[in-house]
Amino acid sequence: MTANFYDELAPYYHLLYGDWDSAISSQGAALGALFIAQGVPLEGPVLDAACGIGTQTIGLLRQGFRVIASDISPGAIDRLKTELARQTLEADAYVDDLRTLAQVAPGSMAAVIACDNSLPHLLSDDQILQSLRSCYRCLRPNGIVLISVRDYAELERKNPDVRPYGLRRDANGNRFVAVQAWEWDGDQYDLRMYLTTESADGACKTLVVRSRYYAVSIARLRHLMVEAGFVNVERHDDVFFQPILMGRRK
Ligand SMILES: C[S@@+](CC[C@H](N)C(=O)[O-])C[C@H]1O[C@@H](n2cnc3c(N)ncnc32)[C@H](O)[C@@H]1O
Repeated sequence: MTANFYDELAPYYHLLYGDWDSAISSQGAALGALFIAQGVPLEGPVLDAACGIGTQTIGLLRQGFRVIASDISPGAIDRLKTELARQTLEADAYVDDLRTLAQVAPGSMAAVIACDNSLPHLLSDDQILQSLRSCYRCLRPNGIVLISVRDYAELERKNPDVRPYGLRRDANGNRFVAVQAWEWDGDQYDLRMYLTTESADGACKTLVVRSRYYAVSIARLRHLMVEAGFVNVERHDDVFFQPILMGRRK
């Protein structure tokens, strides 16, 4: 379900941002500064293990880091490759699942990241723990894992919860509007995204894509990071657009 959702979303993903290019630069600058402060060298490598179409991958490449990018969505990886070529940037990019990270040699990464609420696509504590253990296995001793997530503990649970994005223009000047609808089911919610494009002649097309999230709390995630073996697990609230949890491999 998740791969299919992001496959279908990939051509539109940048339009969810008011200005994707400036989000890339500001997120890259914030993550880069954090990495430098934590002793991650520019030659990394940094694995972006839920890279999507590349917001953080491209941002970190712009900061001079060596980045390897993977994601469960083949459509997102294809879009990332197109963006890398367009921006004359270089990074290996391939399909891989956070739960296994089967293509990564043990102990090979200086840092692993999964940003913008990627881990809550894993629908149980067991799957999140499995993913965190995979990240741990990929890291060198003293390597860093960095995860950014929504703070679900701070969120009022309206049911349904309807969340519009602003009005955008696509590359052809067509109007584009995206709306999220959340429907809660215990600690999980179904998310539908309605993607409507109106062309100059007034013709409208709406695509509906569906996914599901587990509203895992940051406190629970922190506990799972410790269970996976990470030490010095810290929460950072003021460096990125979302809270960050960071931990180290021993
Ligand atoms: C909200 S998007 C964020 C993408 C990117 N980090 C960004 O900020 O543009 C969440 C990403 O997590 C990826 N994802 C979800 N579950 C995954 C899994 N099990 N393994 C790898 N990637 C996964 C999705 O395919 C999607 O690209």
